[in-house]
Amino acid sequence: MLQRPPGPKPRFLIGNIPLASRDPLAVFRRWAQDYGDIFYYRAGWIHVYFLNHPDLIESVLVRNYQSSMKDRVVQNSRWFLGNGLLTSEGEHWKRQRRLSQPSFHREKIASYATVMTNYADQMLSHWQDGSVIDIHQEMMKLTLRIVLRALFNVESEETEEISEALNVMLRHSTGLRLLLPPFVRQLPLPGMFEVRRAVDGLNTHVYKIIHLRREHGSEAEDLLSTLMEARDEDGSQMNDLQLRDEVMTFLLAGHETTALALSWAWYLLGQNSRAQQELHEEVDRVLAGRAPNLSDLPSLTCAESVIKESMRLYPPAWAVARQAIRDFELGGYQIPVGANLVMSQWVMHRDARFFSDPEQFDPSRWRTEACLKLPKFAYFPFGGGPRQCVGASFAMMEAILLLATIAGRFQVHAVAGDPVEPVPSFTLRPKHGIRVALKERPGRTGSPLAQGDTTVATSALRQ
Ligand code: HEM
Repeated sequence: MLQRPPGPKPRFLIGNIPLASRDPLAVFRRWAQDYGDIFYYRAGWIHVYFLNHPDLIESVLVRNYQSSMKDRVVQNSRWFLGNGLLTSEGEHWKRQRRLSQPSFHREKIASYATVMTNYADQMLSHWQDGSVIDIHQEMMKLTLRIVLRALFNVESEETEEISEALNVMLRHSTGLRLLLPPFVRQLPLPGMFEVRRAVDGLNTHVYKIIHLRREHGSEAEDLLSTLMEARDEDGSQMNDLQLRDEVMTFLLAGHETTALALSWAWYLLGQNSRAQQELHEEVDRVLAGRAPNLSDLPSLTCAESVIKESMRLYPPAWAVARQAIRDFELGGYQIPVGANLVMSQWVMHRDARFFSDPEQFDPSRWRTEACLKLPKFAYFPFGGGPRQCVGASFAMMEAILLLATIAGRFQVHAVAGDPVEPVPSFTLRPKHGIRVALKERPGRTGSPLAQGDTTVATSALRQ
C-alpha cells in the first residue's frame, strides 16, 4: 500500500469530484489550507495529487518534466484541437514547437504592435460615452482579429461567426464536461448538437484560411507560411489536417487567454478608482494623447503591473495539470504512473506565504523588492518548463498596448449590483460576462493610428 499525502475524505465509489461542486475554486483553496503543500484525492478512478508549493511545481514542470505528459482534460480536447502544439507530445510536439517558436521571437512580435493598436483604435471608434458594454465580449473580438491578422495574415469578415462558434465551444467546456471522454460528444446529449455544429463551422473557416493561402500564397512571412513551408528530413510537408490542428490551436490559445487577462484587468480597475487613476496618469504622461507604440513599453510600468496583478488574482489559465507516465518521487511521496498532478495558479497566486494581503488588488506590489525575490513558481501565469506558453511575450505586449490604448480614451466603471462570477472551465471565464459603464475622458475623441515603431526594450519582451 502506497503512503499517500493527506486529503479530503472520499465518498463511496465516487471519491471527490470538486469540478462538479458549486464553487470548485473555493474547494481547492480550502483543501490547500487544510492539507498543505501536497494533498491527495480520488476523482472516480483517477488519483489526483494537488501541489501547492513552488518547489513541487518546478519539480514537475521543469526538473522532472519527462516523467509526465499533458493531463486527461487536455487529452480529451483533442477531439476538437486535434494534435496541435498544445495537445501533442514527444517528437511531434518538439518539431512543431521548433517550427512555431520563430514566429514569437522578439523581432517578429515587434512587427505586430501596430496591428494591435490599430485594431484597438477601430474598436474604440464604436464605443460611446455613457454606454454599458460587455467588456469581455469586446476583448474577445479584438484579440481574435489580432491573432488572425498577426499569425495568419487574415483580415476576416467572418470574425463575428468565428467568435460566436468559439463562444459556443467554450461555454460547453465547464465543470464535469471537461472530464467527458471524446465519444460522449457523439451522443445525443443536451447541447452536443450545438457544439458539433460550432466545430463544423470553425473547421470550414480554418480550412478556408489554409486553402486560400495554398492558392494565392502570401507576401507575409507569418506563422502559417512557416508551418506550410517546413519540410521533414524526408522532404514531406504538413498536410491540411496537421495545418488545421495548428491553426485551430493558435486561434483558441492565442486569443481567449489574452482577452481574459484584459477583461479581468478592467473588472478590477472598474472597482478600484485609485489604480485606474494611476494608469490614466501614466498614459497621459507617456503618450500625451497619441497611440502607444513599442518603444513606449518600458515607460508603461504601471500598465504592466496592472496586467501582472490581474493575472495574479484572475489567472486566465487557472491550473495546469499532468499525468504521470512513470513512477517517481515527489515531496516525500511516491507518485504512481497514471496519477494526475494538478498545479493551480488560482491557489498559488493567493498564497499568503508569498503575497502579502493576497486578496487585495495592488498593482504597485510588482514594483517592490518582495516581488522581485519571489520563487519562480509562486507566480506562473504562463506555466513553465519546456511546455511554457509559446505566446507569453506576444500576450504581454498585446495586453499592455491594448490596456494603454483604451485607458487613453476611456474610464471604465463597474456596474453596481451586476454579478461577476469566475468559472474554472478550460480557462477562467466570467460566467455572465463583465458589464462595465464607459466614460469618455475629456478631450480624447480619437488618437492618431500608431506608427510601425520596432524598437524593443522592455521586460515584457524578454523570453
Ligand atoms: C495572457 C495570455 C496567455 C496566458 C495566461 C497563457 C497561458 C498558457 C499556459 C499556462 C500554457 C501552458 C499549459 C501547460 O503547461 O499545460 C500555455 C501554453 C500555450 N500557449 Fe499560451 N497563454 C496566453 C497567451 C497565448 C498566446 C497569445 C498564444 C499564441 C499566440 C498562446 C499559445 C500557446 C500555445 C500554442 C501553448 C502550448 C505550448 C506548448 O505546449 O509547447 N498563448 N499558455
